[in-house]
Amino acid sequence: MSDLKTVQLAGTSSGITEAARRLGVGQLVAFPTETVYGLGADARNATAVAKVYQAKQRPSFNPLIAHVADAEAAQRHVLWNESAEKLAAAFWPGPLTLVLPLRAGHGLASLCTAGLDTLAIRVPAHPAARALLRAFDGPIAAPSANPSGRISPTRAAHVLAGLRGRIDAVLDGGACDVGLESTIVGLSQTPVLLRPGGLAREDIETALGFALVERAHQEAINAPGQIASHYAPEAPVLLNQSEPLAGGAMLGFGDIGGTLNLSPRADLVEAAANLFDYLHALDTSGQTISVAPIPDHGLGQAINDRLRRAAAPRNPV
Ligand code: TXA
Ligand code: MG
Repeated sequence: MSDLKTVQLAGTSSGITEAARRLGVGQLVAFPTETVYGLGADARNATAVAKVYQAKQRPSFNPLIAHVADAEAAQRHVLWNESAEKLAAAFWPGPLTLVLPLRAGHGLASLCTAGLDTLAIRVPAHPAARALLRAFDGPIAAPSANPSGRISPTRAAHVLAGLRGRIDAVLDGGACDVGLESTIVGLSQTPVLLRPGGLAREDIETALGFALVERAHQEAINAPGQIASHYAPEAPVLLNQSEPLAGGAMLGFGDIGGTLNLSPRADLVEAAANLFDYLHALDTSGQTISVAPIPDHGLGQAINDRLRRAAAPRNPV
C-alpha cells in the first residue's frame, strides 16, 4: 500500500528535535501523549493533514484534535470563554480536550476540523509531547495513531504494528500512563460531555461548578441532518457530473475541470487537502455545485463520503 520507511526516534532531545523538523516539512510523526500515541501532522498544512487520513485509512473525515503547548497557544486558534479558562487552569496539561469556536485567522487547515467552525484542542501532559510542542512551536493535529477501526496504541510498538510503512516516524516515549483517550467537552454552546475519557466527568463538573449535558457525539458529528448542516454547503450539490448546470458552479477533478479543480493531476491527497476550502469558495452564489466523479479508493472514499453528505437532503424527517 505504501512504501515509506518509518524511522524510530528515541525520546531524547535529539530525537525530539528531529521529530519537530520532520513535522515542519509536512511529514507524519507519531508521538506519545499521556493518553495514547497520536499520529501527528502540522495542523496548518492541509496536505500533511490529508496524509493523516490516508495513513489511517479512514472512510470518512472525522475532525482531528489540535495539540498545543499551553492555554495561551490555544487562544491563538479558538475563542476563549469562562468555562474554558476554568477547565484549562484545572486540568491542562492533561487528558482533557475542549471544543471551542474557531477564531478568525486561526491558520489551521480546514481539513483538520473537517470543515467545522469549531476546533477540538488540548494541551497534553506527556513530557515528550510537551517537548515536541515546544520544539515545533505550532499546533499538531493528531488522531490516535492506529489504523481506522483498530484499538488505540499505548506503546511505540503498537504504532509500528499498525502503521509501519504508512508514516514517516514514531517518537518513542515508552508506555502511555492513562491508556485511554482524552475526555472531550464541548464549550461552544451549553457545556456538554462529548466523549468520556481519561479525566472523570465528576472532576470536570466540580471545577465548573455545574453539571455537563450529555450528547452522543459521534451521532452529532456523523448523522446527516444534525451537524451535517454545519458541513453542508447552502447550495444544492450534484455528484458525478461531467459539466455544470447553466449558470452553476463546477467542482472538478482530474481531466474534468471546473470553476475550481480539486486536483488537476487527479491526486487524492491534493483533492482532500482542497475539499473543504473549495466547497466553501463555491458556496457563495447559491447556484448548484456540480461535482466531477472522484475515484472511490484510498482517500477518495472519505472525499465521497463528505460529498454524499453535502448532497443529502438538508432537512430529513
Ligand atoms: O487522547 C486523545 O484525545 C488522543 C490523543 C492522541 O490526543 N486523540 C484522539 O483523537 O483520541 P481521535 O481523532 O482518535 O479522536 C478525536 C475525537 C473524534 O471522535 C472527533 O469526532 C472529535 O474528537 N472531535 C474533533 N473535533 C471535534 C469538534 N470540532 N467537535 C466535536 N468533536 C470533535
Ligand atoms: Mg481514535
